[in-house]
Amino acid sequence: MESRNPNPESGPLNPESRPRLDRGLNPVFHDPKHHIKIFQGDCLEILAAIPADTVDLIFADPPYFLSNDGITCHAGRMVSVNKGTWDKSKGPDANHEFNKTWLAACQRVLKPNGSIWVSGTAHVIHSVGFAMQQLGMKLLNDITWVKPNPPPNLSCRYFTHATETLIWAAKNKKSRHTFNYKLMRELAGGKQMKSVWQIPAPDRDEKRFGKHPTQKPVALLERILLAASNEGDLVLDPFAGSGTTAIAALRLRRSALAIELDMAFVQLAARRTVAVTVAVRMRADCYASSLDLRAVFMDRSVDEAAPVEMLPTTQLVHRERKYFFVGAVHREIVYSVVADSLQEAWRSFRASCFQHLDIFSVIKTETEIYLAQ
Ligand SMILES: C[S@@+](CC[C@H](N)C(=O)[O-])C[C@H]1O[C@@H](n2cnc3c(N)ncnc32)[C@H](O)[C@@H]1O
Repeated sequence: MESRNPNPESGPLNPESRPRLDRGLNPVFHDPKHHIKIFQGDCLEILAAIPADTVDLIFADPPYFLSNDGITCHAGRMVSVNKGTWDKSKGPDANHEFNKTWLAACQRVLKPNGSIWVSGTAHVIHSVGFAMQQLGMKLLNDITWVKPNPPPNLSCRYFTHATETLIWAAKNKKSRHTFNYKLMRELAGGKQMKSVWQIPAPDRDEKRFGKHPTQKPVALLERILLAASNEGDLVLDPFAGSGTTAIAALRLRRSALAIELDMAFVQLAARRTVAVTVAVRMRADCYASSLDLRAVFMDRSVDEAAPVEMLPTTQLVHRERKYFFVGAVHREIVYSVVADSLQEAWRSFRASCFQHLDIFSVIKTETEIYLAQ
């Protein structure tokens, strides 16, 4: 994956002169236009194939090691806390060793001024912070992410878990990390942004392509990318899950490399990523003569559909209206035509060899295809 050219004035980069940032690896998903790649596999193996000093920003949401057969509350129901075998604890020492290993692999690929963000609960975040210090990273901030509507604690023996912690660290003590201070101050209403962020958990719309047990909200990743990277930067997520980091990168014009072990989650991430750049809207309306007082067919469909919410560069590239004429005697489609309006469709029907047939109803279908440029 190549970074976008950060300086458009210097012209497009010569592909031959650009470093290959993923030697010998085949992504499962690749959007070359928007510089997004998703790899399936163990992040340790894939990180090892990425050259040193090439990534601007890393966001990692590693296993929390909290799948301990406990219970929690989801949508008002008692459910297991178990997320999957990847989230099972192997004991504090082995868990810490794992954290140190992947953090070292991330540190190697970070540019000298690059930085890393790691999210986690108490089960993992202290080990992450300690490993960062052991590796000589520079701790920059710890952010408390507050979830306004956390699920209640069913055991009633603890406080409701309403926060997660994000540690932000630079590659090493010499790093001069990126921090878009002015933008953050603007987003905080003209005051310095605090290290407590209130952001709702992902809503149903963010989960419409499928569920991931620990999906992060796109808004959280957007805040991180806006704070600590610039347009054209290369962002990496070694535990990509449902692809939230890649989606935020795409929306904010950053390049992204995402790595995920589980193929089902890779597919979910790819579906979500494609949906940011491609949308198809289809509608069907039906006009029946029996519903019209004066026995005329009228187009009552509403032309002003809600705008499609995608990237600012999204354009409507194709629209097709098709009219299907249903016979009154035999209920079947006796004629169909692509036309701009119902009147034009009728003109076409009356000029056809089916004009003598009685029509029971006309069905209009409309397809719109939107693509991000
Ligand atoms: C906490 S979840 C990440 C969720 C993600 N932030 C999102 O918004 O959907 C951790 C993910 O890491 C994956 N995983 C676990 N071990 C891995 C490894 N060694 N390499 C790559 N992915 C791994 C799991 O399958 C899981 O989807």
